[in-house]
Amino acid sequence: MYRTKTCGELRISNVGETVTLAGWVQRTRKMGGMTFVDLRDRYGITQLVFNVDVNESLCDAANHLGREFVIQVTGTVEERSNKNANLPTGDIEIIASDLRVITQSEIPPFTIEDNTDGGDDLRMRYRYLDLRRNCVRRNLELRHKMTMEVRRYLDSKGFLEVETPMLIGSTPEGARDFVVPSRMNPGQFYALPQSPQTLKQLLMVSGFDRYFQIVKCFRDEDLRADRQPEFTQIDCEMSFVEQEDVISIFEGMAKHLFRTLRGVELNEPFLRMTWADAMKYYGSDKPDLRFGMKFVELMDILKGSGFAVMDNAAYIGGICAEGAASYTRKQLDQLTEFVKRPQIGAKGLVYARVEANGNVKSSVDKFYSQETLQKLREAFDAKPGDLILILCGDDAMKTRKQLCELRLEVANQLGLRDKNKFACLWVVDFPMFEWSEEEGRLMAMHHPFTHPKDEDIPLLDTDPAAVRADAYDMVVNGVEVGGGSIRIHDPKLQAKMFEILGFTPEKAQEQFGFLMNAFKYGAPPHGGLAYGLDRWVSLFAGLDSIRDCIAFPKNNSGRDVMLDAPAPLDQSQLDELNLVVDLKEE
Ligand code: AMO
Repeated sequence: MYRTKTCGELRISNVGETVTLAGWVQRTRKMGGMTFVDLRDRYGITQLVFNVDVNESLCDAANHLGREFVIQVTGTVEERSNKNANLPTGDIEIIASDLRVITQSEIPPFTIEDNTDGGDDLRMRYRYLDLRRNCVRRNLELRHKMTMEVRRYLDSKGFLEVETPMLIGSTPEGARDFVVPSRMNPGQFYALPQSPQTLKQLLMVSGFDRYFQIVKCFRDEDLRADRQPEFTQIDCEMSFVEQEDVISIFEGMAKHLFRTLRGVELNEPFLRMTWADAMKYYGSDKPDLRFGMKFVELMDILKGSGFAVMDNAAYIGGICAEGAASYTRKQLDQLTEFVKRPQIGAKGLVYARVEANGNVKSSVDKFYSQETLQKLREAFDAKPGDLILILCGDDAMKTRKQLCELRLEVANQLGLRDKNKFACLWVVDFPMFEWSEEEGRLMAMHHPFTHPKDEDIPLLDTDPAAVRADAYDMVVNGVEVGGGSIRIHDPKLQAKMFEILGFTPEKAQEQFGFLMNAFKYGAPPHGGLAYGLDRWVSLFAGLDSIRDCIAFPKNNSGRDVMLDAPAPLDQSQLDELNLVVDLKEE
């Protein structure tokens, strides 16, 4: 037997027992005739003691242990005189009577500690060492617990876990596909699923009624902190449901996860906001509602006073930061620089402080009377000490998005984005379509299988851009943690949708024939949702990037730096696949 106990389980009640432990050497300390070794495994750290007076050769062997050596130790559990309250095993130590080095280790490229000296790239290259660190391992433990709770919850609601294939045809969901060449079908390619969307709909046609899958999805899109090219969805679909039924099941699941994994009881129904309101009041379809600073439109108050930028603007809006009138000139200049950055693109920033006596002092005082500025104050119900920040522009949607960035930045600066506070929200009534400049046509905002709102169906013929969908996203702390919709189950409506999206009947048949044919054989009304597992885990663990809860993630260029993938193929492999690589010069 390699071990009788793990490094995390011995307590004062074990004093007197003889035990054998195995694990990695975290560190060794020599103090006089004593050598102390911290032995680590997944479960914890236990202190080993080697005493030169008791066994000189054993103590000598301990002094030659290097960091990350794998060893086996036998000894007796004793109460420590110098207890360590920070360790669950801190009341005891093992007086070693035997030591065996199982494998040696080279000096690791960074220290295996929470506060490591390893940079991002180095840690990713040696990810197997990074994963030895408590803080990283803990994220994967949380991920495991979450998938267990998800399965427990969905099983209790009658959902069946069904696996769908990874080698499929392309499903149009907005991102590019990753493709896989087929050796047996020369010149033909599979696509890896962006999501199992159409397959889960087919399972509904098959009568499975309630399906789920914890499933890898692949999207070849630009990466951000909350995006990986391969990520995991908790993908679900239900038959004979309306939007309320789906929302109720998945709000229940969110509450179950909060309760079991974070100890947070969310008793109230989650807030609901239409997409239109989210854009109007927060400039985003995923507003962070941990704090206020709702947008106020100021066209009526600020237009027509001879300040050309405002007079010519298509939109003027602002936010009020409580207690931020103490911002210095320098801080305000920095905020102005922030909104003028090319990624944000605002022309400038107007600010107004509410002074102790209620007077409003603005950066554009010469254009506005105190009377107008008081109207401004009233529009926000601003109090002495508050700071009003205003943006304007000639494109309302763009300006709202800029104001959204400003709102988030100010909230960051004021410490309003507390990671231990959770604001959950359903954003509903998404538009059915959005205009694509690139493609010069309407595109499905969610996907082409989404059901339009019944009352908007007549608009499909007259004003498709105004049609709203039975589509919903769940947003927590400004992160889209899931999204779904009620699907079209009527073949005629589906055909119409493809027509509006610019598919000829032949093209629609070629791409979606399998689904449209299936709908000819009795499709139940159905709908569903997919949660982003990586985003949920990051949210619960308070991570800045979903990378930290994925065992082997890709970097921002989509590379696995440890495996050095992607990489060119050998000529023989290319030949077998009938592929010729013809790299175009950049
Ligand atoms: P959607 O595209 O909204 O919907 O994806 C569902 C959820 O998956 C997560 N997600 C991602 N997480 C990490 N990296 C990515 N690149 C990434 N892309 C998406 C998000 C998102 O809310 N088939 C539909 C679902 C449905 O209609 O049932 C779909 O895939 O948390």
